[in-house]
This record gives sequence, structure tokens and C-alpha cells, in this order.
Amino acid sequence: MNSRVINVLVTRDIPEIGVEMLRKEGFNVTVMGYDKPLTAEELKDAALKNNALLCLSADKINASFLKECKHLEVISQFAVGYDNVDVAEATKLGIPVGNTPEVLSDATADIAFGLMMAVSRKFFHLHKTIAKGEWSYFQPKKNLGIELKNKTLGIFGLGRIGIEMAKRCKGAYNMSVIYHNRNRNENAEKELNAKWVSFDELLQQSDVLSVHSVLSEETKGIFNTNTFGKMKSNAIFINTSRGGVHNEPDLIEALNSKIIWGAGLDVTNPEPMRADNPLLSMENVAVLPHIGSGTVEARNAMSQLAAENIIEFYRNGTLPHCLNREVLKK
Ligand code: 8YV
Repeated sequence: MNSRVINVLVTRDIPEIGVEMLRKEGFNVTVMGYDKPLTAEELKDAALKNNALLCLSADKINASFLKECKHLEVISQFAVGYDNVDVAEATKLGIPVGNTPEVLSDATADIAFGLMMAVSRKFFHLHKTIAKGEWSYFQPKKNLGIELKNKTLGIFGLGRIGIEMAKRCKGAYNMSVIYHNRNRNENAEKELNAKWVSFDELLQQSDVLSVHSVLSEETKGIFNTNTFGKMKSNAIFINTSRGGVHNEPDLIEALNSKIIWGAGLDVTNPEPMRADNPLLSMENVAVLPHIGSGTVEARNAMSQLAAENIIEFYRNGTLPHCLNREVLKK
């Protein structure tokens, strides 16, 4: 451990385990105890007093922040996604950026799988009708869902989380798996008998289309009126990655006009979703407040990994999970 005092800013109240690891290592840790994200001004002011930053995906680590905070020695993100961080700019400034992959794959895939089931049988809508006193008598032709057995699961962005979703769908429903990625994932093809298809084929053939890609210039709004229009009319659209990957007004329109059958979202655009969003009153829709990684196990492991990225950087100049390894000294 270095003899100089190293100040670490943790931008939100994360599970204690990582904070304790940092303190035990001798860092001077400041945890912003609020339950809401810092404003850009608050974030900058706090970061200016620190050497290292442990941030969350609601923190905008963009070029203007980085230009004012060039002094930061390492940035460690408490999330696997990093669309809030301008990694290219951090790289130019020589600041390594870490994230927390793998440990949240099971938890997030459980949410994708759960949303799929909830939508296919209208769980959320029916729960609400009971609460409103609308459960009357048995209606043989009402409230019918659709079955998932032997259907086709399409994964957009087959990485660690997509693989876990595919395993669940194969195991529970014998679903066939197709996927679209820029590059083929040969391990997944072997393990899951997954088939690479073009984006158009993914749209046309999926009964359930589950999004697990990153949000980037390439994927922003890629699910829109044009692409929903190519999907099956009984298709279920699931998004547990980032709300920006789908165009929300277009999704509302596709559901209203029965272009697709239903949607399950753990991510929305914007977040938080407004209480008067029409999606919340649709029968075949289930929305959750971005809780993909929300298990005790996953959040503790994320806290640990985010701390390890900082600790290892100061111990030996490396981060176990680094997004811009090129800036680390050889
Ligand atoms: C986090 C996530 O809860 O890891 C991600 O990319 O979206 C979630 O696990 C959230 O981003 C907190 O930073």
C-alpha cells in the first residue's frame, strides 16, 4: 500500500462490503450517503477532492466531467454497463476504467426470464385487477396468455447475461435459440445450439426477443416502428439492458396497434418511468424499476469487484476488470 493518503469517492450508498475493503486497505473513503444521484455540479465538486472514483451508472462521467477531473487516477463503475462513461475520453487522459461483469448475470437473466413469463400470462395486469376488486367469476375466454414451450427465443446481444437467459428458456421450455451479434459467439453456439441470424431474421423469427446488448451509437433506438413492424404479431419484446435501445413511443404504438403481442421491461427511457406512462396500464406489459442486479448476492459481489478494481490498481497497477487496458502501465 502507498504511504500517501489516497482519497476515494463512492458516489452512492453501496453495500458495505466494498467500502470496508477499501477502508481496510487504508484509503480515505467518502461515501455520499444520498439515495439519489449527485447533480453534475455536486459530482464534480466531490470528485475534485478525491484521487479515485467509485461511481454508478446514473453518474455522467462524460467528456466535460473528465476534462475537469483529469486528476482522477482510476474510475471504478458499480455496474457492468458503462454507457454513462466516456471511456474513449478517459483513455485519452490515461485514466483506467473498471466495471463489474459476471457477478450479476444470473440475477439479471432471472429478471428477463421472469418478465417473459409475467407478460405471457399477464401477471402484472391480473394482479392489478384483483386489487381493484375486479375478480368476478371464471371466464373461459378471458385473460388468456400464450405458451412458451418449443417457441423461438431471439437474443439481441448474446453475451454473459444473454447466455444465462437462453439456458433458462431452453431448460424450462425447450426453446430454440437464435441470436444476433456483430461477431459470432462460437462457445454459445456449441453450448446452447444457438444459431447466428441476421438482424432482420432475428426480428422475423423470434417469438420472444430479449435484448442484452450494450447501449451504443449503433444500438440506440434500434427497436423502433420500422423494426417492431418486422416482428411476429404474437412476439414478446423483453429489454433488461438499457432503455435507450428501444424507442418508447414506438413501442407503445406497436403494442397499441397489436403489431407485437407484449413487452417486459426492466429498463425504460427515461428512468424513472413516469406514473402516467401508457405502458403501465397495458394488459400484456410488465415493467420493473431497473432491478436486474437487485439481489443481495449480486449487489454484494458488485461492491466487492468495484472495490477490488481500485485496490488492485494501487497495489500493482492493474484492474481485474478493466475497460481500457491499454492505459495500464506494462
Ligand atoms: C445497476 C446495471 O444496478 O450493471 C448494470 O449495468 O444496469 C445495474 O446492475 C446499475 O447500473 C447501478 O449502477
